[in-house]
Amino acid sequence: MSKIALITGITGQDGSYLADYLLQKGYTVWGMKRRSSSFNTSRIDALFANDRQEGNPKFHYFYGDLTDASNIIKYIQEIQPDEIYNLAAMSHVKVSFDTPEYTGNADGLGTLRILEAVRILGLTQKTRIYQASTSELYGLVQEVPQTEQTPFYPRSPYGVAKLYGYWITVNYREAYNMFACNGILFNHESPVRGETFVTRKITRAVANISLGFQGVLSLGNLDAKRDWGHAKDYVEAMYLMLQQDKPEDFVIATGRTTAIRDFVRMAFHEVGIMLDFTGKGADEKGIIAGIDRDLFESQTGLEPDHLNIGQELIQVDPFYFRPTEVNLLIGDATKAKTKLGWQPQHTLEEMVSEMVQSDVELVKRNHHLKNGGFLIHNKVEDLM
Ligand code: NAP
Ligand code: GDD
Repeated sequence: MSKIALITGITGQDGSYLADYLLQKGYTVWGMKRRSSSFNTSRIDALFANDRQEGNPKFHYFYGDLTDASNIIKYIQEIQPDEIYNLAAMSHVKVSFDTPEYTGNADGLGTLRILEAVRILGLTQKTRIYQASTSELYGLVQEVPQTEQTPFYPRSPYGVAKLYGYWITVNYREAYNMFACNGILFNHESPVRGETFVTRKITRAVANISLGFQGVLSLGNLDAKRDWGHAKDYVEAMYLMLQQDKPEDFVIATGRTTAIRDFVRMAFHEVGIMLDFTGKGADEKGIIAGIDRDLFESQTGLEPDHLNIGQELIQVDPFYFRPTEVNLLIGDATKAKTKLGWQPQHTLEEMVSEMVQSDVELVKRNHHLKNGGFLIHNKVEDLM
């Protein structure tokens, strides 16, 4: 009998990688999907199509929402999962300042609804639960690097909602002897990272600017530092946590931290554009210091004639500043390495390269399909 996993947040970055990972391990996978007025399954469409071709479907989904307990109870009862991965969340830190109550409901109480459903249905000895906790819990960091013992100090409605999710998971583990774990995951990215998180915003801009569809990239705080890993490595850690003999919480991180400004440099360098930064705060600018024409041509298929030395490509717009910021994250994943045998396989350099190349291909494809340029900079979704 294959194991059954239920993944909330199946349409998100991590949900799509985890579904792929578990299907390859022979699991039957059920995903909770929100109803949306436009398609929201692009990350899992290929997986779904492949699964349907094989004759014995193992990938299923149902409509649901973390704010709807009745629906959660109904489907957990029907599916009787061996493992639940609670990945669904309003996951954008800046947006959580605009939607604090909803964020608390979905990210905080949503976790409780999953745990309660398992308890009410008498599945506490059968169903193991993974809770998507986050390095945002550390917020105003109390220790460097951050470990499982570092005290929390969240700095956003998102972080505070996730703090509730973290502790209610610990509480249900202790109160009801449930197998429930927190993965305290540091930032992880990929070519299918949400378009408004900073890494993907940058790699999309590299593609659009180098192919001539965007003039300038506006960003917020360039000084913030993040410990960025690859989502593919991080979903493996989720799985490993649920295969242990006893439930525990784990930090998942690379142990290397990089400023946003340096990520920008690395991403533009990938297409042969060298940047210099001048000025401070909202007056800081990134300008072209050099162009490696051969690299540019090999990566984009174009000559860089629309770009000039001294041209401004990066500007700072205070719109993107957050009311309270998390300035530095760097994790120590020694416990995960020792107990789970987990080790990240991707370097930051490899990931940046993969993301830039994927976005260059995507922009070329979109441009070809639309047969005309588009100014991605003016899209509503960019206002984050
Ligand atoms: P993501 O790409 O934003 O995906 C979030 C998923 O949750 C999407 O499938 C989204 O559906 C769904 N969702 C949002 N609100 C929902 C609701 N009320 N009910 C049901 N589904 C809902 O996030 P991710 O990067 O994959 O992250 C996965 C989880 O890990 C999240 O809980 C996030 O907070 C946490 N986390 C992420 C990171 C990271 O760096 N990526 C680090 C630490 C923790 P739509 O597709 O319809 O929007
Ligand atoms: N999004 C965004 N857009 N961030 C910017 C921008 C911009 O234009 N300019 C600078 N930043 C800075 C933010 O201020 C923040 O310090 C940093 O870039 C990273 O921002 P995000 O990529 O939006 O991610 P995050 O660190 O706030 O949150 C992500 O990681 C958390 C784990 O630490 C999300 O995936 C969360 O869901 C996750 O819990």
